[in-house]
Amino acid sequence: MSTPPLVPPIKCQGIKTKLVEEIRALAAQQDYERWVEPFCGSCVVPLNLQPQRALLFDSNIHIIRLYQDIQAGRLTAPMAKAFLTEEGEKLRTRGEDYFYEVRQRFNDGPSSLDFLFLNRSCFNGVMRFNRSGKFNVPFCRKPDRFAVQYVSKITNQLRRIGEVIANKDWTFEAADFRAALAKVKPGDFVYADPPYAGRHVDYFNSWSEKDENDLAERLKQVPCKFILSTWHSNEFRTNLLLEQNWTGPRFQLFTRQHFYHVGSTEDLRHPMTEALVTNLSGVRYTTTQPALEQMAFFEKPADDYGATAPKAPGKS
Ligand SMILES: C[S@@+](CC[C@H](N)C(=O)[O-])C[C@H]1O[C@@H](n2cnc3c(N)ncnc32)[C@H](O)[C@@H]1O
Repeated sequence: MSTPPLVPPIKCQGIKTKLVEEIRALAAQQDYERWVEPFCGSCVVPLNLQPQRALLFDSNIHIIRLYQDIQAGRLTAPMAKAFLTEEGEKLRTRGEDYFYEVRQRFNDGPSSLDFLFLNRSCFNGVMRFNRSGKFNVPFCRKPDRFAVQYVSKITNQLRRIGEVIANKDWTFEAADFRAALAKVKPGDFVYADPPYAGRHVDYFNSWSEKDENDLAERLKQVPCKFILSTWHSNEFRTNLLLEQNWTGPRFQLFTRQHFYHVGSTEDLRHPMTEALVTNLSGVRYTTTQPALEQMAFFEKPADDYGATAPKAPGKS
């Protein structure tokens, strides 16, 4: 039986907790010296794969600051426990007014502790910033949010994550993915998990078709293996950029249906078929999870790919 994935202390949209095992199984097919993520988000993937060396980037400075603070010992589990207990008590007695007071304090002068407080007590665990870069998610409307058990849960997550990071040679950096990918060297392995265009837009997630195409162009040029997470389809639409950017014999596509729990509206909680695109060759796929479906790209005849057309596992 597989062990449950390590859970990061912060939540974000598009968190890949449910794809960790698939990503692990694919990445295990290639030796690499350094793990690189241009869109690390909650860091659930590196925290579970635990590479010795990693470069972890995100445009969201608050996420990066939080991990830098954990790494440097400026944010520890006992500190978080004391802070969330004390602030949680104020939230319990003063209700939503206090949530908005902390939100204002954070927007005036951001700190990792306030970020943690807001992330774990805002509506649906959403991470959203307005055009001026200010956190603008409303209260979850649970004044007793930071009850003893919940504080312990967050504190344990923080402690465990701190232990993992302490033993690793990891660098966290706030940067655009273009700058991140410019640092990739032979021997690296890139896992790229960009925002999904049209699903969630905010100050740190203004993802456009141009960004998507820029990313594809740069990923095709990295001197190493990569996995790209993107969306394949939902009940309303199919991702046409997937076909446009990634058709060809160099790439393999895997898909799996995924149900998101973090989202502000019902629309964002519809099931979505996720795609993993990789330039790994001849992937053998083994995992304890239900198998990913390996797809021939968009049902084109094999001739379109030449002799190395990807084949579904077990099929000749
Ligand atoms: C889908 S989330 C990544 C989720 C992450 N893999 C996880 O499991 O938690 C996408 C991330 O990309 C970041 N981002 C958006 N635009 C970016 C850009 N231009 N460059 C770098 N990061 C960006 C967002 O802040 C967000 O954290």
